[in-house]
Amino acid sequence: MNKFWSEKTNCLQPYVPGEQPKLTNLVKLNTNENPFPPSPMVLTAMRDAINDDLRLYPDPSADNLKQTIADYYGLHKQQVFVGNGSDEVLAQAFAAFFQGKQQLLLPDISYSFYPVYCQLYDVEACYVPLNEHFSLNPADYCGARAGVIFPNPNAPTGCILPLVQVEQILQANSDCVVLVDEAYIDFGGESAVRLINDYPNLLVVQTLSKSRSLAGMRIGLAMGHADLIEGLERVKNSFNSYPLDRVAQAAAIAAFTDDDYFRLTCAKVIKNRIWLTEQLQRLEFEVLPSEANFVFARHGSKEAAQIAAFLRLHGVVVRHFQQERISNFLRISVGTQEQQQRLIAVLEEMLAQ
Ligand SMILES: Cc1ncc(COP(=O)(O)O)c(C=O)c1O
Repeated sequence: MNKFWSEKTNCLQPYVPGEQPKLTNLVKLNTNENPFPPSPMVLTAMRDAINDDLRLYPDPSADNLKQTIADYYGLHKQQVFVGNGSDEVLAQAFAAFFQGKQQLLLPDISYSFYPVYCQLYDVEACYVPLNEHFSLNPADYCGARAGVIFPNPNAPTGCILPLVQVEQILQANSDCVVLVDEAYIDFGGESAVRLINDYPNLLVVQTLSKSRSLAGMRIGLAMGHADLIEGLERVKNSFNSYPLDRVAQAAAIAAFTDDDYFRLTCAKVIKNRIWLTEQLQRLEFEVLPSEANFVFARHGSKEAAQIAAFLRLHGVVVRHFQQERISNFLRISVGTQEQQQRLIAVLEEMLAQ
């Protein structure tokens, strides 16, 4: 209890991000970054944006970027919102649509930032258990009062919900916002963006941190009916008019423009995920079916916490969640082939002992 903090601040239990180690020689497979660099076109656009104009504020509504995204997805600019990383976009969506409401439906195992936003924005969370295969049953999500939120593919499981089932959830909750967090959608899933014109209650949130290799730039976006976007703009303009700086806006435009590079990178991640899955299975891990840039796996006999500690000792960092139902799983980001070979070699060493 701190006497200077507000009552709210005293009660907060903030999100704990995955470790960003200071050591540079580690094999870092713990925060689902892209193992491949951003497009060369992005780096050129960023260098070009570093000029005397930096003395001027950026475009507060990032119109060129919104138009680029709208063109990319076949939407209108008024159906696109951008922010400083999708975490911020999610926070603004909580403030705009869920704040102070009862009964937000979300999976019991999903992105651990959602409960933090529930606290911050006084939303009553209703956790819906994933089934025994760790997948989401759409029939469990109907008649929500505040709204519905889930990642697709889910995090940290990697499992995808097919679009027909996303549609069932939209139909069963027509009076509230259904937020589909598509942070990992480009690694094999089908985006719900194409449902936007049919469902005014659908908000799709995406990020440039994963499939477009720009975690360091903090760029996120939301797409939905123009009324939902206007709600987000109202919150954003009551908080920070300039969430994306000039360099970030230039980077994001280039990232959507260089589609060939994007597709190539995603294909490489998918290929490496298949290799990683096969190798882990060979070493007696059960690996959940993943459409993301990570896998979620548990070993037949070794404890996840022990494995994570052994890996860390040998310079490989993965993510372990001390949470009911999943405490024996490890979430391992897809890496370069070299990184993955190192991971597998260390696991083999451990299992040989
Ligand atoms: C499901 C999910 N949503 C959103 C985010 C946030 O991504 P960012 O803030 O980098 O856009 C993450 C990050 O790991 C995530 O796993």
